[in-house]
Amino acid sequence: MTVTTPPEPARTPLTVSGAHGDAPREPDGAYLDHAATTPMSAAALAAFVAEAQRTGNASSLHSAGRTSRRAVEEARETLAHALGARPSEVIFTSGGTEADNLAIKGIFWGRRAQDTRRSRVLVSAVEHHAVLDPAFWLAGHAGAEIVLLPVDGDGVLDLDALRAELAAHGDETALISVMWANNEVGSIQPVREVVRAARPYGIPVHTDAVQAVGQTAVDFSDSGVDAMTVSAHKLGGPVGVGALLAKRDLALDAVLHGGGQERGVRSGTLDTASIAAFGVAARHAVDCQPQRAARLTALRDDLVVRVREVDPEAVLRGADPASGRRLPGNAHFTFPGAEGDSLLYLLDSAGVQASTGSACQAGVPQPSHVLLAMGVPEAEARGALRFTLGATSTEADVDRLVAALPQVVARARAAGLVSGRALGGAS
Ligand SMILES: Cc1ncc(COP(=O)(O)O)c(C=O)c1O
Repeated sequence: MTVTTPPEPARTPLTVSGAHGDAPREPDGAYLDHAATTPMSAAALAAFVAEAQRTGNASSLHSAGRTSRRAVEEARETLAHALGARPSEVIFTSGGTEADNLAIKGIFWGRRAQDTRRSRVLVSAVEHHAVLDPAFWLAGHAGAEIVLLPVDGDGVLDLDALRAELAAHGDETALISVMWANNEVGSIQPVREVVRAARPYGIPVHTDAVQAVGQTAVDFSDSGVDAMTVSAHKLGGPVGVGALLAKRDLALDAVLHGGGQERGVRSGTLDTASIAAFGVAARHAVDCQPQRAARLTALRDDLVVRVREVDPEAVLRGADPASGRRLPGNAHFTFPGAEGDSLLYLLDSAGVQASTGSACQAGVPQPSHVLLAMGVPEAEARGALRFTLGATSTEADVDRLVAALPQVVARARAAGLVSGRALGGAS
């Protein structure tokens, strides 16, 4: 028995109904992939539509341009206020990937220009590819030496290893990048301790907070980091807009060159509609965060208990939910003897949408680098499935998952046996 990719779902024609403030709908069935993207809030959509109906380049000097500029600056203030930053520290980008690229390349070039000995780039082994790939690009093209910082079995950074690395090579290090929270297993990283360790050596610290904002408390200034990445579509805003928060005294070289927008480090006409919606979404996500975290924690804990009931062999990966060091909406399992891709497609057929890990890698049948860095054997890592909850998640979503799971896991295991792959047992 094999499990093949299901045919493309039929596309229902787009209809526009009601006022533009109608809440966007999430996909039908149980949508358990909010870490990949989460529905826009009604208020963010309304702000988007209102600005998209206007014409004006925020860099133009006439009144249409100034109107657009006002919307951008209001959003900049709102975003900064929501994240504990100053408006002048916000650099708008096209999303998390661009902000991560700007941080890794821009800080490397900026710090090395100040001190040519600094060629080491320290990144945790569980970073998103939006951080790892620019770092390895620098190694291939700009003489950087990449150091992958190890994590423990929960996916949490090994601070002793970081301190030992800094004691040996702190003066040669250009930057450290450690994410606020992991996108696959949801583990929250000790970012403040990283800053404390880096400070004596004059090393700038970047954190990718794409998955953290709206799920856990995030404060740029209080964290002490020099730069932080955020993305709108993970917190109720539109796809295609994000920001790098960067301290004013951080040496940051441009990656995109052109019209000199955004402090000269990120050229390109600003996307006023998306930026306005981003500001509204961020404000809402941060205001709602404490109540939402409490609700999602209870829902996630219930999901974990019930998944273990229907499949006692399932192994929860990442930090213990009771530790407080895990994102409230994240539950990540490996199912011994089953392929993650098979589980995903079979669940999808049953109306449950989940992920094998990072959506950005979907379709690539590789075991997750995050699980491998945590010490999970490759065969077990292949059976990974991530369930992530968000603002619109309900108990009915969990019910639907739990109802579908026994048959799905049985079929995926049978497919694994037939395909002859040596799939690992429970650890
Ligand atoms: C931790 C993390 N960083 C960066 C990104 C990329 O963000 P964007 O989709 O806005 O480019 C993602 C998206 O999955 C992510 O989870």
